[in-house]
Amino acid sequence: MSDKKRKRVLSGVQPSGDLTIGNYIGALKQWAREQHKYESYFCVVDLHAVTVPHDPGELRAKTREVAALYLACGIDPQASTVFVQSHVPAHSELAWLLNCVTPIGWLERMTQYKEKSGKRDKESISTGLLDYPVLMAADILLYQADVVPVGDDQRQHLELTRDIAQRFNRLFGETFTVPEAMIPPAGARVKGLDDPLAKMSKSYTGSDYHAVYLLDPPNRVKKKIMRAVTDTDPERKIIFSDDPEKAGVNNLLEIFAALTDMDREAVLAHFANARGYGDLKKAVVEVVNETLAPIQQRFHELTSEAGYIDELLAEGAERAAAIANETLALARENMGFLKPHRRL
Ligand code: TRP
Repeated sequence: MSDKKRKRVLSGVQPSGDLTIGNYIGALKQWAREQHKYESYFCVVDLHAVTVPHDPGELRAKTREVAALYLACGIDPQASTVFVQSHVPAHSELAWLLNCVTPIGWLERMTQYKEKSGKRDKESISTGLLDYPVLMAADILLYQADVVPVGDDQRQHLELTRDIAQRFNRLFGETFTVPEAMIPPAGARVKGLDDPLAKMSKSYTGSDYHAVYLLDPPNRVKKKIMRAVTDTDPERKIIFSDDPEKAGVNNLLEIFAALTDMDREAVLAHFANARGYGDLKKAVVEVVNETLAPIQQRFHELTSEAGYIDELLAEGAERAAAIANETLALARENMGFLKPHRRL
């Protein structure tokens, strides 16, 4: 079953917040496109979502929703293994083993931890927030993943995963594949519509006009995109540019290019006769809505059949556990745990 001829890929999204067109362009669309090239594992990382305060009912609902969106965006559950992290207990167990080979200084140096914990006092943040990257390392190493597609903001966590794998292998013998990060190209990093210098985030709640969500109705999409921040360039130049002044226009062009699969030249030619930013925005509204319509339709089909997603997730967890348990057994053995005796 586990053909190691193809490289293995693993990635995951937290079931917190609503998935955005940034998640689609930067992650899901690429996963779907590449899923046959690799032996693919895509999980909904619910254990990561409880590192910050959460609502239990919402966590449950979002976990199903994110899984359904994976499929609606083109992940084929026959070709790829789609599962929920907490359904495979090996993730938690390997995280403990890895905790004990991970110096705490490595975790305290993580930028994301420093940012998330920085302004808060240590009495109000969980140990899980500090330990988050070790659980992520467990997610990856359990599947002996070769390649891990992640956003640019996760680069450091991938480095840490490699360090943990190498340290474990050195201490206890060859156990884990040391994975490579696969970071999407700059063009696939969608920025906030309200603030085109910041990454479009699914958990940002500061403005209603920050992100387009995958389940937004067409009129909402239109309102958000028509309001997107552009610039006061008197010439109204519609160009790809890394000048911060042009970040808003650049972001709209990148979204258009990513969703139409057009190259930059073709995109610029397409807008050569545009009259101002209004035309650009209208064109982006149109391609976004054309992209979202079939995704939303598929999402509603998948979720309207009671138990369908849960059944697929059960099957995914079974397939995932078969691989994960094998790696966990090897890690336990190499670390020196006594094997439980099998009574006759
Ligand atoms: N930390 C990742 C993020 O916020 C999510 C994640 C958890 C993940 N475990 C993973 C991504 C394993 C890739 C592989 O984006």
